[in-house]
Amino acid sequence: MFISFEGCDGSGKSSALSWVVDRLRQQGLNPVLTREPGGTPLGEKVRSLLLNDPMALETEVLLMFASRRQLLTDVIEPALAAGKLVITDRFVDSSYAFQGGGRELGAARIKQLDDWCGGSRPDLTFLFDLPVEVARARIGERQLDRFEREAQAFHQRVRDAYLARAAAEPGRIVVIDATQTMEAIRIQLLDILQARLAG
Ligand code: TYD
Repeated sequence: MFISFEGCDGSGKSSALSWVVDRLRQQGLNPVLTREPGGTPLGEKVRSLLLNDPMALETEVLLMFASRRQLLTDVIEPALAAGKLVITDRFVDSSYAFQGGGRELGAARIKQLDDWCGGSRPDLTFLFDLPVEVARARIGERQLDRFEREAQAFHQRVRDAYLARAAAEPGRIVVIDATQTMEAIRIQLLDILQARLAG
C-alpha cells in the first residue's frame, strides 16, 4: 500500500505523518518512509536546488519530476514490489497544486510529465487543508524557503488546485480539516488508516 501526505506549507502534515509512523511501528508495521522533493541521494541534492536557487518555472517542474522518477526507481517501486507499506511526505499532487495551480502552469502540462514518468498514484492520500491566512500565521518567522516566501495569492491557488483534485478523486484523496486540534486529527487519521489497512 502506498500512502501520501499532502497540504500547504504550515498545514501540520509533516508532524502528523511522523506521529502516524510511530503508531504504525508500535503496532509492528515497518513502513518505508520518504519525502519529496528528495528521498534519494540524488533527489536530496535536487531538493536543495529547488528550495533555494532561483530558476525558470519549467526548470522547477522538470526537477520536481526528476526527483520523483529517481525516488520511484530507487525506493517506492522496489518497496511496493516487496509488499511493503510506503508513506511519503508529498507526491505528484504537490506538482499539480504548486506548479499547476500556484505557478499557473495548468493541470494539462503537469499531466504530460506525470504520464511520461509513469503516472503512479498513491492508494490513499491525506490532504491537510486549511485557510491560507491560518497556514501563514503558523509558518511564522522561521527561515522561509522559495515556496513559503510566495505571496498569499500563490498559496490560495495551491489550495484551490489541491481541493479540485480532491473533488475529482474522492476515493483516493481524504481531506483533513487541519484547523482541528492535533488530537482530533490523529484520531481521524488512525481510523481511516486502520480501515484501509484492514481492507
Ligand atoms: P516540504 O518538504 O513540505 O517543505 P518543508 O519541509 O519546508 O515543510 O516541501 C518542500 C516544498 O516543495 C513545498 O513548499 C512544496 C514544494 N513542492 C512543489 O512545489 N512541487 C512538488 O511537486 C513537490 C513534491 C513539492
